[in-house]
Amino acid sequence: MARIGSRTLHQLIYASRIAIPWPDQGREVDQIIEASVRNNQAVDVTGLLLVHDGWFVQALEGPAEAVLNTYRRISDDARHGDCRVLHAGPGESRSFEDWHMCARHMTPADEAILDTLSMKGLFEPHRLTGKQALRLLKAVRGVQHSTRLRALG
Ligand SMILES: Cc1cc2nc3c(=O)[nH]c(=O)nc-3n(C[C@H](O)[C@H](O)[C@H](O)COP(=O)(O)O)c2cc1C
Repeated sequence: MARIGSRTLHQLIYASRIAIPWPDQGREVDQIIEASVRNNQAVDVTGLLLVHDGWFVQALEGPAEAVLNTYRRISDDARHGDCRVLHAGPGESRSFEDWHMCARHMTPADEAILDTLSMKGLFEPHRLTGKQALRLLKAVRGVQHSTRLRALG
């Protein structure tokens, strides 16, 4: 179990249904990320937000109290609903240490990721086990890194 100072690292992954009308989604997600980076940085929380096919899947990691307080606030947000925790518990190490928060809108080119979880036809993140949810977000982390590197190059 990893420690952050004297505290243990906590990880939480949840899935929820997006409740933002289509034309506004990009702008709303930008605003969510802006608030997330500001707040999460202050309490040492990192993570990743996947946006796909009417769903959010988000990982939060950091000190337990900060992660749980952040999740409590997020789950009250009317921009989504039907929040379901897929995985919560102590972690060995951070998986998303590069981002206080970062959103990835899955593109058709990314959808090969879903094949690895047999989800391409039907994206139903509520049905993922904690392990599958973590695998999905780590795969998304990989494409996010490679896209950023391409953009820099
Ligand atoms: C899908 C989703 C993910 C969010 N993720 C975070 C987050 O990681 N951190 C955060 O502080 N707020 C997050 N929010 C926003 C919170 O619900 C809330 O609006 C925000 O924390 C309020 O911050 P403020 O009082 O600084 O404006 C998220 C909202 C949604 C809908």
